[in-house]
Amino acid sequence: MTGELSPIDKAKFVAAKRAVEFVEDGMRVGLGTGSTAAWMVRCLGELVREHGLRVTGIPTSTRTAELARNVGIKVVSLDEAKWLDLTIDGADEFDGDLNLIKGGGGALLQEKIVATASDQMVVIADAAKGVDTLGSFPLPVEVIPFGWQTSKALIEEMVASLDVMGSQTALRMNGDTP
Ligand code: A5P
Repeated sequence: MTGELSPIDKAKFVAAKRAVEFVEDGMRVGLGTGSTAAWMVRCLGELVREHGLRVTGIPTSTRTAELARNVGIKVVSLDEAKWLDLTIDGADEFDGDLNLIKGGGGALLQEKIVATASDQMVVIADAAKGVDTLGSFPLPVEVIPFGWQTSKALIEEMVASLDVMGSQTALRMNGDTP
């Protein structure tokens, strides 16, 4: 599964491998989004295929759902699962107090809903994600398409009233698509 990995991928893989040790037989597991979470999904798939672990995966994005199915994990929606035992997900940054920024992978809303519906959450991040102060890249805020320009204006208004560095917002694009 690993082949020749770059140092950063090796770190993600090791973190993912450790995280799946928290998964017990029969658990309903929230599957995060991003490259670290993808390693976790591959590791979990290996446990399912080669060790007969029975788990139900609740993905936080369509790309995670596709990967989970491909590696042999049974996938259901959050509505079908209703409540989860554990969610494992990555993070974009963490500080010395283990505060996090998530959402850089563009699946923030689903990730938060799935994590909230879980008894436990395990966050996996390699050392490169550690920062002294959170905010080394723009803070992801997910809004729904309905009325997004009004939401943007309200967010800008709120941020302007706070004691924070920077108050510009930008609509994030994936190619031509917001
Ligand atoms: C997804 O929206 C994020 O919360 C991810 O957990 C985050 O972007 C981590 O991604 P990588 O593992 O690819 O760095």
